[in-house]
Amino acid sequence: MRIAIETDSMEAIEVTDFGDRDSLRTTEREVPEPGSGEVRIAIEAIGVNFADIMQRRGNYPGGPQPPYVPGMEAAGTIDAVGEGVDREVGESVVAMTTEAYAEFSIANVDALFNVPEGMDFEEAAGFPVQFLTAHNTLFEWGGLTEGESVLIHAAAGGVGTAATQLASRAGATVFGTASTREKLDLAAELGCDQPIQYTETDFADAVNDATDGAGVDLVLDSVGGETTQRSLECLAHFGRMTVYGAASGEPGHPDTGTLLFNNHTLLGYHLGQAIERTPQRVLGAVPELTEALTAGDLEVIVGETFALSEADAAHAHVENRESTGKVVLVP
Ligand SMILES: NC(=O)c1ccc[n+]([C@@H]2O[C@H](COP(=O)([O-])OP(=O)(O)OC[C@H]3O[C@@H](n4cnc5c(N)ncnc54)[C@H](OP(=O)(O)O)[C@@H]3O)[C@@H](O)[C@H]2O)c1
Repeated sequence: MRIAIETDSMEAIEVTDFGDRDSLRTTEREVPEPGSGEVRIAIEAIGVNFADIMQRRGNYPGGPQPPYVPGMEAAGTIDAVGEGVDREVGESVVAMTTEAYAEFSIANVDALFNVPEGMDFEEAAGFPVQFLTAHNTLFEWGGLTEGESVLIHAAAGGVGTAATQLASRAGATVFGTASTREKLDLAAELGCDQPIQYTETDFADAVNDATDGAGVDLVLDSVGGETTQRSLECLAHFGRMTVYGAASGEPGHPDTGTLLFNNHTLLGYHLGQAIERTPQRVLGAVPELTEALTAGDLEVIVGETFALSEADAAHAHVENRESTGKVVLVP
């Protein structure tokens, strides 16, 4: 374990300007001090999220302004506690935070979780954002119940691998899309009943064929662009669609005529905004998720690990659609 007392500076990654991966630079920053209600974490693993890339490109409403240290989740060991904090130095934790691409980060205790038993730091770094997003979009927002069907886009990705496992475990029929056969093999191993290679087959036609034209009860849309409207075209009457991302780089443009004619419900989901306004609704799933991860009923799929200094290569891996599951950085 690193001890911050020994040094007052740390390695961090900085986004110097909005733009491509060249704007990611290794830099030295002062080790931060925790304030009231905060802890400092000596970081062992950092979760890479698609939002880190969108923020770096300057495509993220309300995102940080350069120069800034990116990153929104990290796992490690508490090495300092602020005032009024009922936590101990040495505890293994994972946090939703800011400025996580670094050796040390400050986290608010409200967004701090124990590392589920048996889980290493790299797996833990893939837990909060992807599993809470998957659980919330499927159940708390999407209302998925046993016996229903769901279409999960990017089913082999970070959120996708979590959502596929959760939906399958809940007794839903899972349709999943991905760009390659290898990704679909992974999705199938995790419980995807109907893997669709959308680069070869029109996904909406595939869903409609498999359901005799009825469509699925729920869609999780993380892609946007043309995928959004096409998803509505394979959504059942009274179906719901949770929109939570735009990995294509384009927001979707749903035709409200399709919505009203089919009694569809369109829902938006943003973890960060929701947690500020309704923390109980967002975090209510943490005990259930922790228990299932500890028991091995759910698994964080860590696809690839990079050194912190190779953050640009990690971004390339995700942007070029080479990644499966979670991509992790290690300081
Ligand atoms: N709203 C929220 O609070 C929230 C929270 C977490 C994540 N998200 C969103 O959820 C999505 C998944 O996040 P993640 O971190 O788990 O990423 P990810 O799914 O591991 O990676 C993104 C995947 O999207 C697919 N994709 C489709 N079009 C793409 C394009 N033009 N460029 C790159 N990828 C493309 C790729 O899968 P294929 O190769 O199979 O197409 C790619 O692997 C993102 O849109 C992210 O912004 C939202």
